[in-house]
Amino acid sequence: MAPILVNVLTALLAASVGCEAFDKQTTARGDRSWHEYVRSPKTSIVTPKAILAANTSGDVSNPAGMLGWNRHPTVLTRKQGSDDVPSVIVDFGQNVVGILAISFAGSTNSSAGFPGLKLAFSETQQYLTNVSDFTRSDNLPAGSKITNGTDQIAVANKPFTWKDQTGCQHGDKVCSDGLHGFRYLKITLDALESDSPYTQSYGSVSISNIELEWNAYLGTPDTFTGWFECSDEDLTQWWFDGVYTADMINSKFLANETDPRNSASPTLEGKEVLFDGAKRDRDPYVGDLAVASLTSYLSHDDPASTRNILADLANHQRDDGWIPPASINNYTLDLYDYPMWWVVCTYDFVMYTGETDFAAQYYGVMKKTLDGYFGQNLTATGGLLDKTNGYGDYAFLPRSGKITYYNALYVHALKSAAELASILGHDEDRNAWTARAESVSTKLLARNWDTSVGAFFDGGPCPNNATNSICNVHAQDGNGLAVLAGAVNSSTATSLLDYYARAAARPYGNAFYDNDALSAGFSERVYAFISYFELAARFATKGAASSAFEEIKRLYGWMATHDPKITFWEGIGPGGSPYEQGFTSMAHGWSTGIVSLMSNYVLGVQPTGPGFKTWQICPVVDGGNLTWAQGEVGTPSGPIRVSWKKSHDGSLTLQFDTPRDTSGVICVPTEGFRKDRMTMDGKRVEGEEAHTLGPIATAGDGFKVIKADGGAHTIVVGR
Ligand SMILES: *[C@@H]1O[C@H](CO)[C@@H](O)[C@H](O)[C@H]1NC(C)=O
Ligand SMILES: *[C@@H]1O[C@H](CO)[C@@H](O)[C@H](O)[C@H]1NC(C)=O
Ligand SMILES: *[C@@H]1O[C@H](CO)[C@@H](O)[C@H](O)[C@H]1NC(C)=O
Ligand SMILES: *[C@@H]1O[C@H](CO)[C@@H](O)[C@H](O)[C@H]1NC(C)=O
Ligand SMILES: *[C@@H]1O[C@H](CO)[C@@H](O)[C@H](O)[C@H]1NC(C)=O
Ligand SMILES: *[C@@H]1O[C@H](CO)[C@@H](O)[C@H](O)[C@H]1NC(C)=O
Ligand SMILES: *[C@@H]1O[C@H](CO)[C@@H](O)[C@H](O)[C@H]1NC(C)=O
Ligand SMILES: *[C@@H]1O[C@H](CO)[C@@H](O)[C@H](O)[C@H]1NC(C)=O
Ligand SMILES: *[C@@H]1O[C@H](CO)[C@@H](O)[C@H](O)[C@H]1NC(C)=O
Ligand SMILES: *[C@@H]1O[C@H](CO)[C@@H](O)[C@H](O)[C@H]1NC(C)=O
Repeated sequence: MAPILVNVLTALLAASVGCEAFDKQTTARGDRSWHEYVRSPKTSIVTPKAILAANTSGDVSNPAGMLGWNRHPTVLTRKQGSDDVPSVIVDFGQNVVGILAISFAGSTNSSAGFPGLKLAFSETQQYLTNVSDFTRSDNLPAGSKITNGTDQIAVANKPFTWKDQTGCQHGDKVCSDGLHGFRYLKITLDALESDSPYTQSYGSVSISNIELEWNAYLGTPDTFTGWFECSDEDLTQWWFDGVYTADMINSKFLANETDPRNSASPTLEGKEVLFDGAKRDRDPYVGDLAVASLTSYLSHDDPASTRNILADLANHQRDDGWIPPASINNYTLDLYDYPMWWVVCTYDFVMYTGETDFAAQYYGVMKKTLDGYFGQNLTATGGLLDKTNGYGDYAFLPRSGKITYYNALYVHALKSAAELASILGHDEDRNAWTARAESVSTKLLARNWDTSVGAFFDGGPCPNNATNSICNVHAQDGNGLAVLAGAVNSSTATSLLDYYARAAARPYGNAFYDNDALSAGFSERVYAFISYFELAARFATKGAASSAFEEIKRLYGWMATHDPKITFWEGIGPGGSPYEQGFTSMAHGWSTGIVSLMSNYVLGVQPTGPGFKTWQICPVVDGGNLTWAQGEVGTPSGPIRVSWKKSHDGSLTLQFDTPRDTSGVICVPTEGFRKDRMTMDGKRVEGEEAHTLGPIATAGDGFKVIKADGGAHTIVVGR
């Protein structure tokens, strides 16, 4: 990607000390070493990979014939009166999204009409039945429903190509749903009785080719402005799997391809957005962006898909300051936490893109939600957010009371907003929001800390139990966010992270509740989304990195090895199953936190000023058995490149190259290293000061912090 950079590094290597093995990755392996991990289709025409041989039934000749214009097509035949229904399952090899196209060589028919095909789509084999695992039509009002879970084709007796457009071949008969997100496709020669006389269940159909028109961001290697690679191939692969998952949800907002639950919006129509899932809900939700947008910034230069959503939701702010979470239900879906995520996501957007004009334009929106909607009742409620209404949240939990999560998220949003206020010169707001964040943090600890286990209570009452004001239950969301928001100190962070790892570890991740007091099954449900904040908290807390790597192995390792593999799921339920059965989206942008965890923590690159004008590079080098990691993060002024490697003698070499017009700080790990054996560009490092790391407080220490200007530098520290 940057051949000039390689030369600079090579020159530096020659001049610097004790890093003989380094060029193994930066030069010999070359910048293209990561290309093999990229999951994107090579072109926007995607072909299926295989036929599931064991699942073919009835009279199907040459089942593989339809995999790419063979001379001999696949022929499905059913004799009149036969009960033997021909059926075949096509496997695209991985989850895909787009519009299916089937080319027919023709059919034989009787006077009763053309033979009909029925198509069922599914992301998993488990939920591939005679009907699709999910059908957009199911969400339409009864009168406007066009399918009951299968797409129909009347196969004419001449060659033609059918495309899965939303609509019907004949009036309101022989209908299909349109766009699908799926891995498996079941094709059956069969007809709906209601489609008579246009289709019938008998005859013979010849299929010469099947392909998919990719309907999302095509993330081929040339589109990457950031990448990541390390000595653990699983972590490397999952980084690219996360990018692929987020690519699948990056697409144009079109009424006929979007969630039909009154999501269609003239102000979003035709714009690039990040949907929440590939097969559903296909609406952009702002909370999801807290993870999905980071994946987008860290992999491809495509800020428009985030900007469009943030601007549109801000433009639909309610008079009382509440910001809708999405366009669904005509911008009225009542989620309580998402307006605060809008603030955090706007902060991230400005940091990654440098678009401070955007922050200025929507500053009033931010102030109105933080001070108006959330701030108005604080005095009356003892200084903590006290939710009394029926609003839900990211998990549709109608929690009420002084919930830890909402308050920790408020602290996170206030601190993010304070940074933006500072950048824009609104010092009064900065001071007020910083002070309020401190006050909420203190009160949260005083009210919701459970000394008996050393973690925060969820904070609300148990259902149907008026006698206790605080239910004996602890949640991942509030605990993780309290650390990430800097609402607690390092020893408190260590305590709650230790408790949570002990109490909530499951073979497929950490559950979002430690017990079932609020609802059956909660202690067995895992959201990769909310796990991201807990995992980031672990990386930001001294001594907790190994628990982060261990949790990542369970969570991402589970999804990577269970059907459909590669893409990351909306939620995981009991036994590691898709948490809402076939309805579960198995390609959900909010579950791609692995990308940020590797780039922002293991490589350690984070913006500390708009557009990375200032940055920090604070790599996590211990806890995961890694011997090296390298990669790039794209910024508006060019790539930041980082590479670290441990040598056999235990010394650590850290190389980085940042754009010339930027500056920042480097955190060199000191735990287990000798500070007196630290060199930068061959010279001993003396007496650098400790800095406050990042605008969002980092609970970790154990670093020596060194200031650096843009350009290429090498730091070596010995054991
Ligand atoms: C096949 O269908 C076409 C169109 O309905 C019809 O004209 C033709 O007669 C049918 N062929 C046979 C063999 O019945
Ligand atoms: C395909 O057949 C295999 C082997 O019998 C079975 O395990 C699997 O569930 C089948 N898949 C579908 C979608 O029917
Ligand atoms: C699926 O379709 C086949 C063929 O029509 C039929 O034999 C089977 O009973 C159907 N299964 C279900 C679950 O409806
Ligand atoms: C869906 O199934 C219901 C119940 O069997 C039926 O009344 C309706 O007509 C079907 N709708 C379509 C579009 O096939
Ligand atoms: C939706 O409509 C657009 C044009 O407005 C069209 O290009 C696209 O193919 C349609 N999608 C489906 C699935 O029908
Ligand atoms: C959505 O809400 C707006 C504002 O209340 C209203 O003007 C518009 O008609 C609504 N649109 C739909 C499709 O319900
Ligand atoms: C603040 O209190 C008012 C009046 O009780 C209520 O309508 C509103 O929903 C509360 N706001 C929040 C954010 O809880
Ligand atoms: C209800 O609250 C009481 C008092 O705190 C507590 O002892 C009891 O365990 C609670 N019941 C349930 C089902 O949580
Ligand atoms: C961290 O915070 C806890 C709770 O407020 C306090 O008891 C403890 O002394 C603090 N520890 C340090 C090292 O400041
Ligand atoms: C690191 O290596 C040790 C020893 O082989 C092993 O027990 C541990 O599970 C590994 N940790 C991770 C996160 O892979």
